[in-house]
Amino acid sequence: MDQNLRVPGPTPLPQEVREAQSAPMIDHRGTEFAEMLGEISRGLATLIGTSGDVLLLTGSGSGALEAAVVNTLSPGDRVLGVTIGSFGDRFAKIASAFGADVERFEVPWGEAADPAALAAHLAANPNYRAVLLTHNETSTGVTNPLRELAQVVHDGPGSPLVVVDGISGLGAMPFEMDSWGIDLVVSASQKAFMAAPGIAIAALSERAWQANGSARMPRVYWDLAEARTWAAKGQTPWTPAVSVLFGLRVGVRRLIEEGREQTWARHAAIAAAVQAGLEALGLRLVAPPAHRSPTVTAAWLPEGLEWAPFNAAMRAKGLIVAGGQGAWAGRILRFGHMGGVGIDEMCEAVRVMGETLAEHGHPADPAAAVRAMRALFEARQPAAVG
Ligand SMILES: Cc1ncc(COP(=O)(O)O)c(C=O)c1O
Repeated sequence: MDQNLRVPGPTPLPQEVREAQSAPMIDHRGTEFAEMLGEISRGLATLIGTSGDVLLLTGSGSGALEAAVVNTLSPGDRVLGVTIGSFGDRFAKIASAFGADVERFEVPWGEAADPAALAAHLAANPNYRAVLLTHNETSTGVTNPLRELAQVVHDGPGSPLVVVDGISGLGAMPFEMDSWGIDLVVSASQKAFMAAPGIAIAALSERAWQANGSARMPRVYWDLAEARTWAAKGQTPWTPAVSVLFGLRVGVRRLIEEGREQTWARHAAIAAAVQAGLEALGLRLVAPPAHRSPTVTAAWLPEGLEWAPFNAAMRAKGLIVAGGQGAWAGRILRFGHMGGVGIDEMCEAVRVMGETLAEHGHPADPAAAVRAMRALFEARQPAAVG
């Protein structure tokens, strides 16, 4: 049975990506590889709006979070971790583990960080060296107002570095690295870029490279200066995940062909349809309307619905969604809609979810939910229907 994989990454692989990933191996110190590395880096730079370096590392997104920390900071540096969910917590934890003096600006899960409150916090505290921000908090389906937050950090005392976890947002939603003043952002191949897991992405501003020059946290595998030196020769310092790069090249080409604004609009239209569909099934969404994510929607499980049997029943029908993390395990479900997503798979997922809800004592009208989704999607993006 084909699965309808609706977790917020890894995302389903388009056929073209699957074929590319199974191509014969090549020499990672040869010209063919150098061309591929250059093409992917340049394509990503276009997609995220930077004229700076975009480095491709072998590892998952968390590896790139670690790279972001150890390449810009020294033990004892004052760092503010703005956390709105479990991935913000992870970023702060990594900085602590490497000896940064981390304070947390904690926002209740399900909410976005408020730029004015962050500005007030920065003004009332001794200068920070860096502020860690999450663009899209995958554990709650909340998107932060990153542009405004980055501005506040830049304008804050000591102009701290703006270091961003863009893992589940990059490519799918508006992001302008240079004009928003982002110093370092990371992402990963298995999210909006439609490739398998295994390649992490790190983009650095000139200010981030200056910080790198004096950063004293220990690093070997994740040394970005080393990665930059090798990238200039069309190589990576260590053996890279070549097959994932084959797939990522196709994913990036597809996004470039579609065009950034169109990709963002497609994700926004799909997200609006999914939100409407889940609400039509009677589910209450976690995120407030102004901060709903274009890539992942989280919804509260109805009172009395047990996650494990409900999830098992959906899985038996081929629908794979994610549950809650940490304290929210068993309380929410998370529905991913990033990458090569189209309205048909979304409608099918909502239909199966509605049917399963009804079977578990929570009456829902899947047909009406699907009609609402299609109507909304057609109104938002007529050209892409079908
Ligand atoms: C916002 C965010 N940060 C970090 C990660 C961790 O990435 P990885 O699982 O690739 O290590 C994820 C993965 O879902 C994420 O969504």
